[in-house]
Amino acid sequence: MKITVLQGSPHKNGSSNLLASEFIRGAKEAGHDVSVLDAAHMDMHPCLGCSRCGMNGECVHRDDNTIIRDAMLQSDMAVFVTPIYYFGMSAQLKMVIDRFYSYTTRLSGKKLKTVLITAAWDDNDDVMPCTVKHYEKLCRYMNFRDCGMVLGRGCGTLEATKGSRYPNDAYQLGRSL
Ligand SMILES: Cc1cc2nc3c(=O)[nH]c(=O)nc-3n(C[C@H](O)[C@H](O)[C@H](O)COP(=O)(O)O)c2cc1C
Repeated sequence: MKITVLQGSPHKNGSSNLLASEFIRGAKEAGHDVSVLDAAHMDMHPCLGCSRCGMNGECVHRDDNTIIRDAMLQSDMAVFVTPIYYFGMSAQLKMVIDRFYSYTTRLSGKKLKTVLITAAWDDNDDVMPCTVKHYEKLCRYMNFRDCGMVLGRGCGTLEATKGSRYPNDAYQLGRSL
């Protein structure tokens, strides 16, 4: 299976990317072809809502979204990786999702498999539900098939994340695909 991992943290070596790297290790061991796109460090701009793309055409922006679009359309699975920012995903990852607009018809026709990987400072029941709800809604709207989530609570520092159960959860999820 061809898997594209979309990273949404400004911290290249932060907690969410650590969880993603464990997922990738597992997925590669299981024989999958994994590519990583660090969306937070790519040349990306927010959707202008101009509708020039007609939800199925060229975007007015000339940036790295074409790289993400081509990877998404050629993949069997996408992995959304994000720190939790104010109970939601990061703006860096949300920008990628908003830019689906120009290829939403093609993308939703793929029945893409997806995974969600998050990292948050807090460790309580309040910290993840909004992000999970948003992800689930996105899956329904875009005909994505959710294949699992790793919701890293209490992952505010690299040390805390390394010492938690979540790296192994991420590895096991990748390995199980
Ligand atoms: C703008 C901003 C908003 C944040 N909002 C939350 C939040 O709502 N809940 C929480 O538990 N942590 C919050 N955090 C902490 C991060 O989620 C946490 O540090 C996480 O480990 C960062 O992941 P990263 O290392 O992958 O970037 C916030 C951090 C920033 C910078």
